[in-house]
Amino acid sequence: MSDKDTGQREGFSSKFGILCAAAGSAIGLGNIWRFPYVVGDNGGGAFLLVYLAFILVLGIPVMLSEFVIGRRGQRNTFGAFRRLAPGRPWWIIGIMGIAAAFMILAFYSTIAGWTLEYVYKAATNAFQGKSSDELGTMFQSFHTQTFRPLMWQLVFMIMTAGIIIAGVKRGIEKYAKILMPFLVLLLIVMAIRSITLPGAMGGLQFLFKPDFSELSPAVFLSALGQAFFSLSIGMGALITYGSYIGKENKLGNISVEVSIADTLIALLAGVAIFPAVFAFGLEPGEGPGLIFHVLPNIFQQIPGGYFFSVIFFILLAIAALTSSISILEVVVAFLVEELNIRRRHATIMAAAAATFVGVFCTLSFGVMEDTSLFGKTVFDLLDFTSSNVLLPLGGLFIVVFVGWFLGASNVRDELTNSGTLRFRLFSIFMFILKFIAPVAIAIVFMNSIGLIKLGGS
Ligand code: PHE
Repeated sequence: MSDKDTGQREGFSSKFGILCAAAGSAIGLGNIWRFPYVVGDNGGGAFLLVYLAFILVLGIPVMLSEFVIGRRGQRNTFGAFRRLAPGRPWWIIGIMGIAAAFMILAFYSTIAGWTLEYVYKAATNAFQGKSSDELGTMFQSFHTQTFRPLMWQLVFMIMTAGIIIAGVKRGIEKYAKILMPFLVLLLIVMAIRSITLPGAMGGLQFLFKPDFSELSPAVFLSALGQAFFSLSIGMGALITYGSYIGKENKLGNISVEVSIADTLIALLAGVAIFPAVFAFGLEPGEGPGLIFHVLPNIFQQIPGGYFFSVIFFILLAIAALTSSISILEVVVAFLVEELNIRRRHATIMAAAAATFVGVFCTLSFGVMEDTSLFGKTVFDLLDFTSSNVLLPLGGLFIVVFVGWFLGASNVRDELTNSGTLRFRLFSIFMFILKFIAPVAIAIVFMNSIGLIKLGGS
């Protein structure tokens, strides 16, 4: 990847490849597993509105800022800050991002492992003829075990590392390009089935009819965390990818297109899940297991459900892979470019370290269920700290860096490719970076830790 001696860095080979890689990073378990469970935990419609507002006003600007930093810096997330701000401590953002990458990879691989088990279950026809209760018990008895979830987690990590070792073009780009459109198609089929189930209306109301009494400072923070997690922003994954994007590409368009695709897929997942949750009389706030309980119920109701379920879980695992590689790449690009470690070794080291932490995440649903730190299981603690604290904080620093430090002319230069492309909304963009985004993130934070008090309970 880094070839400092010749000054050549490997990059993405086509516009479509870049889009797929960036969308591949954004679209993953965050949309299909995390989004529904967080919406369910936070009371539905009102959360959704706040989430959408955050994507628009904060998500897109932060994503674009990351691309600007990466492409201008031509380096991993730590190196890019060091290059753009020599002698200043902005590189700390890079270190924070690397820490967040470890945490996310650790718990992400737990859930990705569950997905692999569900590929196996689907393929062996394990959902066939089971009642909703039985499907719940099936998930319960699987994810609290020790051996099987760990085995799948390891399998997933090995796959992630394998793709990263193969590099940008042969690895990341190739896999991302082919498979994502299929996933969308399947989600549409499932959403249609879900909304035509008797009793589905309740789910649509839950998702789309805001009940503002549900809003609290904690709900705002969860919405912020989910927006950042889902868009893959705040930890430098897109700084790293940005450094592989050629100068001729329009960063603005990529950011908007990726954000729209990511949001539509989360909404589609919501429309597939919640009507079914209500139709089967399940609990929307049941937590991280939500989709593993609900989806097999839907497949039971679809003609050819066996076939759909196998393909769906395979595609979900692949969507998880195109995201997990973008997380691991943050760490690997850092180790390779800053510490001169060979790509293969760097990958193995980083993946092994994340797996080690990941073991505790996986076990926190089983034998370590009662082990808690700050009142949270290991899984919840890592999920909360990375998504709701490190990513928004990273995003805050990133917009401040681009808005106040990098200099408007540098930013304009990068966005217009030295004046050869148009970027119409430049002044609005800079205004958001300088004022709106930092203030909004700071308010959500301070409100959630009780430093200030704005509405809600
Ligand atoms: N956005 C990814 C998903 O939705 C997860 C992710 C988070 C990837 C942070 C990179 C960085 O699954």
